[in-house]
Amino acid sequence: MNQYVLITGTGREMALGFNFVRRYLEQGDHVIATVRKPSEALEKLQTQWPDTLHIQLMDIGSTESVNAAVAAVAEYAPRMDLIINNAVTTSPDTNKELEDFDLDTVMPALNVATVGPLRVIKAFLPLLKKSDNALIVNISSEAGSIGACYRSTYIDYGMAKAALNMATKTLYNKFKDDPKINIITVHPGWMRTNEGNAKAPFDPYDHAETMRLMFETKRHDKTGPIFVTYAGEEYPW
Ligand SMILES: NC(=O)c1ccc[n+]([C@@H]2O[C@H](COP(=O)([O-])OP(=O)(O)OC[C@H]3O[C@@H](n4cnc5c(N)ncnc54)[C@H](OP(=O)(O)O)[C@@H]3O)[C@@H](O)[C@H]2O)c1
Repeated sequence: MNQYVLITGTGREMALGFNFVRRYLEQGDHVIATVRKPSEALEKLQTQWPDTLHIQLMDIGSTESVNAAVAAVAEYAPRMDLIINNAVTTSPDTNKELEDFDLDTVMPALNVATVGPLRVIKAFLPLLKKSDNALIVNISSEAGSIGACYRSTYIDYGMAKAALNMATKTLYNKFKDDPKINIITVHPGWMRTNEGNAKAPFDPYDHAETMRLMFETKRHDKTGPIFVTYAGEEYPW
């Protein structure tokens, strides 16, 4: 049976979210592609998939916006089978050392990158509960691993992803006795999602398919690792 899939942060053609949208559409799934502002790339894609691609404005930094989005989506989606929390933002100072970092820019970044996915999960929980096999995927990063941390910069980004990992584990505990819902957090690996990432090993379209297949192996897995790589292998918290 085709799924209802919601993916956040899907407006950029070269980035991961947009390529997840393409991959799920190719499976015949209903895709709710959310963006904080209109995206020409997505609108073009919709001409190819007019019946199954639903574009929804949603700023994950705003509870009001997320609640408005869930009300709109509930008009046509009978349930939600998969949520991919992909959207992220960072402080403009993310690559600076502490001495040069304007710390007042950290909280707005965390509001989107950490609280944003929780807002989405909370708002869509009633629709997730209507699915017999719901999966929530939080897109994390190796930068969110405290155990493997080696950087002295990207403080806000590392904090945001480590906190997202903790939120995932907390919700895993909440859902662990419910066979109809599962949650994982994923380090996707380094992808060629922008000019600065030109040397990265993974193409986002190819990689979205690798992860789509991996997610299916985790849908009912309540005993395996919760923080995993794109290949489904355990990553250190
Ligand atoms: N790229 C990599 O190599 C890599 C490595 C490890 C982990 N990751 C993780 O993988 C995910 C995707 O990475 P990416 O490089 O494809 O990301 P990206 O190009 O930075 O795209 C992030 C998306 O999030 C959206 N966004 C930002 N703030 C938002 C808000 N308030 N509400 C809704 N959407 C918002 C952006 O929207 P706009 O287009 O409107 O700005 C953008 O489309 C992220 O979670 C990232 O941390 C990526």
